[in-house]
Amino acid sequence: MNIPLPELSLVALIGASSSGKSRFAARHFRAPEVLSSDAFRALVANDENVLDANEDAFDSLYFVAGKRLARGLLTVVDATNVQPSARKRIVELARAHDVLPVAVVLDVEEDVLVARHEVRGDRPFGAGVVRGHAHDLRRSVRNLEKEGFRHVFHLRGAAAVEAAVVERVP
Ligand code: CTP
Ligand code: MG
Repeated sequence: MNIPLPELSLVALIGASSSGKSRFAARHFRAPEVLSSDAFRALVANDENVLDANEDAFDSLYFVAGKRLARGLLTVVDATNVQPSARKRIVELARAHDVLPVAVVLDVEEDVLVARHEVRGDRPFGAGVVRGHAHDLRRSVRNLEKEGFRHVFHLRGAAAVEAAVVERVP
């Protein structure tokens, strides 16, 4: 799938843990364009896996995103974004800065997610958490336009995620 992104976009990557969001972000965007919840948890709490740092981490992430959008810089939010509350903040932030909220959904097969998760040493939670993300995603995915995302790119399966091409449009 070709993903044409307007330069004035706030891009939400949406996908379970191990769906490949960070890898996708690294492949298709410049490092400063990508704000990841992991990086912000590490900044505020020294460790990307301190989950009780979530509120501070996300407040900081959206603060920085707002500063970037005010400069007209395309920004990517690398977090699971499988919860409606997380996506609501992204849509509101985009609207506040008059940029387009764009959803890129990494909808990877659950067995692939779990297999990747099992070989990761950097995620101290069980596969049940990953399955929970996949469940939340399935419930969410059809509502994204209604939530306010102006473009929704739904990559169905790991192969579609691998094959995606991101293109910048003025
Ligand atoms: N991976 C893989 N093949 C792919 C994509 C990812 O083997 N096509 C592996 C990566 O090497 C990594 C794991 O799957 O070990 C998760 O990829 P990552 O991009 O880190 O996934 P995220 O969605 O960012 O996971 P998280 O939400 O936990 O940060
Ligand atoms: Mg990641």
